[in-house]
Amino acid sequence: MGLELYSKVEEYLGLEDEVKELHSYFLSIVFKKQLDDIIDIGCGQGAFMMHLRANEVSAYGIDLSVEQVKICQAHGLRADAIALNEVEDKFSCATAIFDVINYIPKTSLEDFFKDTANILKDNGYFIFDVNSLFGFEEIAQGSLNIKLDDKFIGIDAFFEDNELKTDITYFEKTKNNLYIKEEDSITQYYHESKSLNLMLKNAGFIVEDVTNFNLHTDDEADKLIFICKKS
Ligand SMILES: C[S@@+](CC[C@H](N)C(=O)[O-])C[C@H]1O[C@@H](n2cnc3c(N)ncnc32)[C@H](O)[C@@H]1O
Repeated sequence: MGLELYSKVEEYLGLEDEVKELHSYFLSIVFKKQLDDIIDIGCGQGAFMMHLRANEVSAYGIDLSVEQVKICQAHGLRADAIALNEVEDKFSCATAIFDVINYIPKTSLEDFFKDTANILKDNGYFIFDVNSLFGFEEIAQGSLNIKLDDKFIGIDAFFEDNELKTDITYFEKTKNNLYIKEEDSITQYYHESKSLNLMLKNAGFIVEDVTNFNLHTDDEADKLIFICKKS
């Protein structure tokens, strides 16, 4: 899957304000519940862990993308490019922020939740966001072309049968004025609240709260934020 190519284009997508807003919201939950000792699953380039570090909250990150984890490590953050089921320690809280859960196919999601429960201490929290159907149909779909001095990025996202397929095309100018082209795709999966609730229950979580969240628009909630507790 195109996670490595995504890591190359992420900074050009113009999502900084939205990501900051989402991170602020997650941070407010961390403060309210006085959480510490956090594992950030799908930590990306470590922006949320940097907020945690600035507030003296200890954090460890994992991500499947080696390139994203290298960026975390360059910032002095504790992070590894390993899968969730390879994590050996136990934490008081797990976060999965900005679509991470939508990257997991429905058939693997209950196991993913069980693996999350396994790395949490008793009464540990699991806090994550997912895209609503509105978020997929009305916000995430569409095309975007970004032209920079030495790069050209094409993004084409199409939602069908509860899956968003995003094709990424990336051209980068070389020293002799030729372009290198890379292409890949990412699939994200829409998960209905009802099936999320059932899978969380089966994995040993109690859902404490689900909040409708307007990240990209004021029209309708494009995300849901789940706060779950290991029972
Ligand atoms: C949109 S980025 C969000 C990054 C970060 N959480 C943030 O808030 O900025 C989604 C991240 O999830 C990672 N990811 C996708 N599937 C994953 C999995 N099964 N385990 C760990 N990370 C995963 C991707 O590599 C990517 O870095």
